[in-house]
Amino acid sequence: MSKSYRVIQWATGTVGSISLRHIIENPAYELAGVLVYNPAKSGVDAGDIVGLPKTGVLATNDVEKIIATDADCVHFAPQFQDIDMVCRLLRSGKNVVSTVGPFFPTEHNAAALKKIGAACQDGGTSFHGCGIHPGFIGDILPMTLTRLQNRIDRIEVFEIANKLKSPSVYIQFMGFGQTPEEFYSKPNVMTGSMEAFSDSMALVVTGLGKKIEKLSEKLELALAKNDIHYDGGVIRAGTIAGEHYEWTAWVESKPFMLFHLYYFLGDDMEPNWNLGESRHRVVIEGDPSIEMTLNALPDVNGDRHFLGITWTALLGNTAMAAVCEAKPGLVTHFDLGVVQPRGLIRKH
Ligand SMILES: NC(=O)c1ccc[n+]([C@@H]2O[C@H](COP(=O)([O-])OP(=O)(O)OC[C@H]3O[C@@H](n4cnc5c(N)ncnc54)[C@H](OP(=O)(O)O)[C@@H]3O)[C@@H](O)[C@H]2O)c1
Repeated sequence: MSKSYRVIQWATGTVGSISLRHIIENPAYELAGVLVYNPAKSGVDAGDIVGLPKTGVLATNDVEKIIATDADCVHFAPQFQDIDMVCRLLRSGKNVVSTVGPFFPTEHNAAALKKIGAACQDGGTSFHGCGIHPGFIGDILPMTLTRLQNRIDRIEVFEIANKLKSPSVYIQFMGFGQTPEEFYSKPNVMTGSMEAFSDSMALVVTGLGKKIEKLSEKLELALAKNDIHYDGGVIRAGTIAGEHYEWTAWVESKPFMLFHLYYFLGDDMEPNWNLGESRHRVVIEGDPSIEMTLNALPDVNGDRHFLGITWTALLGNTAMAAVCEAKPGLVTHFDLGVVQPRGLIRKH
């Protein structure tokens, strides 16, 4: 219980900053280093980056310095996947939890996991892909709920994010404010993401002793009826103000597991999905049919904020001690079992 793990935070964006704050504040962890891409952050004390007292640990954009740093674990949260860098970290003797995945073995990530597996064996280290979705709401949560079932016919998972209440870089990254023509003419952060999300579906279907036969996808766009002003910009009338991704895993010739991602800015759009506040929801149809909703408590204004980014950071943070203790190789939720987080009960 009293063991402390030396941890490196890799990138300090939206997710990485929340993780860095946690690593500094959690007595089970000792901050060993911070890798930043932004040259303006290099040389800055980690505490200053997240508005905490100075830590004495200066962020660096020198990758070699980080690779040479003695640490138990790296919380890896860069903007883009970098399997070769993950492998270097693993070979240097550091366990890695990554918000970029891979999350569970599938055909599409086989080559990446082969490289990761070899690096883990060389370094005697472990790798775990983590986050809210993929990583929790569409895999370990429904998998846990299956214990309440006599029979399961269909599982639907909803991520409902009203970005008007919780604006972030994803408004731009996801192509909000573009015309449909612009949107379809170039890739954005969601392009090809069904494959990453299918890791979660594969975990559940495999966990239930079946195989995914095929995946299918649909995308529905909603256009702003009037200009929509949010904290950070304007979505012009007639441009994209809502995106609904629907991904389906087919099992035994039926649509068995469906993921719905609804990202939108308020409700002044066509179509208006009338989704209400941000939340995650899992629906299992069968015997019995059940649902579970997960959301933030309302703030002083009565608003429920979207906690997906916060939870993405914390899901990695709370698993780090267990990943450090795991045997070398890929660590999935099945390997982790019931995670016992360290350092959460403390004075504040
Ligand atoms: N599994 C999940 O549920 C889940 C949920 C949300 C996000 N994610 C993933 O988590 C990662 C971090 O998300 P985020 O919201 O924190 O993103 P973000 O706000 O865009 O921050 C990413 C950070 O990456 C660094 N960066 C800058 N240029 C880069 C480059 N060329 N290559 C790699 N990294 C670069 C920067 O770090 P510095 O500022 O330190 O220089 C930047 O702040 C993303 O890959 C995202 O897809 C996963």
